[in-house]
Amino acid sequence: MDLGNIVNELVAAMQAQEDRGTVASYIPELAKIDPGQFGIAIATADGRMLAGGDADTGFSIQSVSKVFALTLALGKVGDQLWERVGREPSGNPFNSITQLEHEQGIPRNPFINAGAIVVADVNLGGHQPRVAIGEMLRFVHYLSGDDSIAIDEAVAASETATGFRNLALANYMRAFGNVRHDVDLVLGNYIHQCAMEMSCRQLALAGRYLMLDGRHPDGGRVVSPRRARRINALMLTCGHYDASGDFAFRVGIPGKSGVGGGILAIVPGRASIAVWSPGLNANGNSCLGTLALEELARRTGWSVFSPLEEGD
Ligand code: DON
Repeated sequence: MDLGNIVNELVAAMQAQEDRGTVASYIPELAKIDPGQFGIAIATADGRMLAGGDADTGFSIQSVSKVFALTLALGKVGDQLWERVGREPSGNPFNSITQLEHEQGIPRNPFINAGAIVVADVNLGGHQPRVAIGEMLRFVHYLSGDDSIAIDEAVAASETATGFRNLALANYMRAFGNVRHDVDLVLGNYIHQCAMEMSCRQLALAGRYLMLDGRHPDGGRVVSPRRARRINALMLTCGHYDASGDFAFRVGIPGKSGVGGGILAIVPGRASIAVWSPGLNANGNSCLGTLALEELARRTGWSVFSPLEEGD
């Protein structure tokens, strides 16, 4: 299998696609992004990096950050987190509020907005948002080996000015006692975490611990093997919101999407993949990003449902 060749062909195929979906506009700053872009980067378990298209262009990682935030929160409170957040797919859109009333302010999983807001509350740990954001940036710098990753302050300001749904979610959970800090501080942490700007190359590097059973490529341990497997399981079952089943069906590997158009996808033992294209489908997931991963999985045979590497 010539992975470099597959990447080049995928980039050409995606660049020729006409149906690119729609760029997110509920965060006004994201509406300015050119939908004609597509990037892909693959970090392999044997240390190679294959990249193509706009792989070095920075984009707003948005909900992909929820993977790193969950990893940090589990490091702080361990399995106690599961008393405050579920681990079931929600079958609802990422910003839905309806289940929260029936389920007493306990969000279905850590990847829908409500769940990620509880995770952001845990990560705040009594500090100001800048302390938690500093910790998040240091973590992502360590994972990727790249200290240049930063917050896009314009995106953060744009979401702060318009994020009324998240404010509602946070206040609602506060009423149940499941958000413990001041909601403005929690959202300050959450919104800045989502506003991290990364390229496909940086994101694929940052995801390597999840393909390596929790190990950093430098030999250190980021999380235990069991924790890495569980995070991958949550990405597969909940990482694409109410399209998670469809993503598992079409792509067959754990993935986490963001409304900036990025997706981090993990092939355990083989590859950490980042794709980016800003146009979204109706579920808020990257249109071409999903298509590219589907095609990549088909060509490589990569799947958590098959022991073989056999494309078809
Ligand atoms: O809270 C929000 O709405 C955004 N900061 C993140 C949402 C997101 O990326 C959903 N993903 N597809």
